[in-house]
Amino acid sequence: MVSKKHPINAGYRRSSVTSPYGLTRETQRALTRMIAAARAKGVRIVVRSGYRSYAQQKQILASKIREYGSESLARRYNAAPGRSEHQTGLAVDLWDGVTWGVGVRNTKTGKWLWANAWRYGFILRYPNGKEKITGYAFEPWHYRYIGARAKDFGANSNQTLEEYLGLA
Ligand code: DAL
Ligand code: ZN
Repeated sequence: MVSKKHPINAGYRRSSVTSPYGLTRETQRALTRMIAAARAKGVRIVVRSGYRSYAQQKQILASKIREYGSESLARRYNAAPGRSEHQTGLAVDLWDGVTWGVGVRNTKTGKWLWANAWRYGFILRYPNGKEKITGYAFEPWHYRYIGARAKDFGANSNQTLEEYLGLA
């Protein structure tokens, strides 16, 4: 669990590292299978972001605060350094390569992921309407690898990891 309430430090080390996205070996293996399964159904999954270091996350938040002109708005979508799942190598941002933002939910890719990602061990980490629990606005692109327990979430789930783990 990495969240606003459960930080990691700058020196946190992933259990293993792969290229090109810096994900852990297990996460990358599951992602490769998922992308192939989607492709077989005519659905294109593009990786927009994988592993991000503490330093990268610090830069991203600072640049989003400048872009939005609002720190509180930027923090609804961007983790502070040491608070991002991307630093664990277990999280990915996925899209169709065309439509970015909340509109991802209505793309073929976004719909397929919400219905099928659990089969490959991934869950939608920041579901719609759960900002009070997760600390983040709806992010239809951000998936977290949790392995076999993703089957407890199933298709089109709005359950949060916090609720599942009894941390909500
Ligand atoms: N967008 C998610 C919350 C992150 O920055 O880790
Ligand atoms: Zn993300």
